[in-house]
Amino acid sequence: MSHPSYDGDLYTDEALLNPYEHYRTLRDLGPAVWLTAHEVYAVTRYQDVRAVLSDPETFCSGQGVGLNDLVNQAGQGSTLMSDGAEHDRIRSVTGSALTAKAVSALRPDGHIRAEEMVDRLLQQSTFDAVPDLAEVLPTEWVPDLLGWPEQGRADLLKWGAANFDVLGPLNQRAIDATEFAIEGVNFAAWVASESLPEGSMAAGILEAAASGVLRPEECPIVLCDYLFPSLDTTVSGLGAAIWLFATHPDQWDLFRSDPSRARQAFDEVLRLETPVTGFTRVATREAVIGDIEIPAGARVLVSFASANRDERKWDEPERFDINRANASHLAFGYGVHACVGMGLARLEATEVLSALARRVERFELVAPPVRKLNNTIRAFSSLPIRIVASSQSDVIV
Ligand code: HEM
Repeated sequence: MSHPSYDGDLYTDEALLNPYEHYRTLRDLGPAVWLTAHEVYAVTRYQDVRAVLSDPETFCSGQGVGLNDLVNQAGQGSTLMSDGAEHDRIRSVTGSALTAKAVSALRPDGHIRAEEMVDRLLQQSTFDAVPDLAEVLPTEWVPDLLGWPEQGRADLLKWGAANFDVLGPLNQRAIDATEFAIEGVNFAAWVASESLPEGSMAAGILEAAASGVLRPEECPIVLCDYLFPSLDTTVSGLGAAIWLFATHPDQWDLFRSDPSRARQAFDEVLRLETPVTGFTRVATREAVIGDIEIPAGARVLVSFASANRDERKWDEPERFDINRANASHLAFGYGVHACVGMGLARLEATEVLSALARRVERFELVAPPVRKLNNTIRAFSSLPIRIVASSQSDVIV
C-alpha cells in the first residue's frame, strides 16, 4: 500500500510544547507515515512501535537512532547505537552495574538521600520542583555512584540536555547544542583516562577494558552511556510526577493512602508524559509495518510517547490514573535496547515519591510551569510549587 504522508514539523517550538495533536493525527493517518519535513517514516501506533522494537534485525540501531547523520556517526560504539553481538558485548558492561540485585543494594542509600531532600523541602515550603526536587538525586547521587569527579558536575545537565538535543533533526536547536554535546563527550574521555574510585560504576568500565571486554577507545562512549541518559530522563519523570500530582490531588490522595503503589504510579507518569519521545531505526531490508511497505535503507522514527497515548491500546489514554494496568507502557523502550537503567530510575523515583507521600498532604502550583524545549526529551525547566505538610510530617519512617 502507498504510504500516507504528513507535512508538519514535529520539532518546532509549538510542536514540542503541544505534540499530542500531531501524534493523534499521525496515528489516524496510518501505521507508518512519511514525514516530508524529516524524510523518515513515523511509527506512532502502540502495536507497530512494539513490533519494530521487537525486530532489531530488520530495524537496526547500529546506523544510529538519531535524526541526523552527524549524531548517528558520533554515537557509533555506544550501547544505544550498536547491534547484535557488538551490542551484547557493550551492554554486558553497562548492564552489569545495573542488575536488579545491584540496584536493590542501593535502596538504603536512596532512601536516606530522598528523606534528606524532603526534610529540606519541608523547611522551604515553596520551591522550584525542577532544580530543588527533580534534579537532586539524578545530579548528586548518580554521579556519586558512577565515581564521576566533583569537577565538571556543574555542567552535567547542560551536557546531558545537549546530547539529547543533537539526536533530533539538524535544526537550530541541535546546531546550538553541538558545542556542549562535544564538550561533555570530551570531558568523559578525560574522566575515562583518570583512575576512578574503586567499586564505582565507572571503574567497572575501566576493568572491562583491562580484561579485554571493551577496547580502551570505547571507554569514553560507554561512560557517556551511563551518564547522559541518566539525567534529563529521570529529571523529566520526577518533574512530570509533581506536576501531575499537583494538578490531580485525588490521585495524590490515592497514592498517599498506599505508597507501596510508587512504582505503578511512576510508570503511569512515564506513560502519560513520556520523557524520551522517540528514537529512530534503519530498515536493513524491505519490511512491512501494518500494511505499509518500507524500503530497505529507510529511516523510521519510533514514537514511544505516541504509543503510550494510543487510543487503540489504552482506555481513555489522556487520563492520569495510578491504578491503571500500565506495565506494558513503552517509556523505557522494548526489546534488546530496552532501557538498561530503568531499575535505577525507578529506584530514584519510588524513593522520592514515597518520602513525599509520607510527609506531604498536597502540592500547589504557585505560578505557571515552564516547559524546557529539547529535540528528544519532554520536560519542565521550572515548576514553582508550595507543599502543604501532612499533620504527621515530623514522623520519619
Ligand atoms: C525515567 C528515566 C529513563 C527513561 C524514560 C529512559 C528511557 C530509555 C529508552 C526509551 C531507551 C530505549 C532506547 C532505544 O530503544 O533505542 C533507553 C535506553 C537506555 N537507557 Fe534509559 N531511560 C531512563 C533512565 C536511564 C538511566 C538512569 C540510565 C543509566 C544509568 C539509562 C541508560 C540507558 C542506556 C545505556 C540505554 C541504551 C540501552 C541499549 O541500547 O541496549 N537510562 N532508555
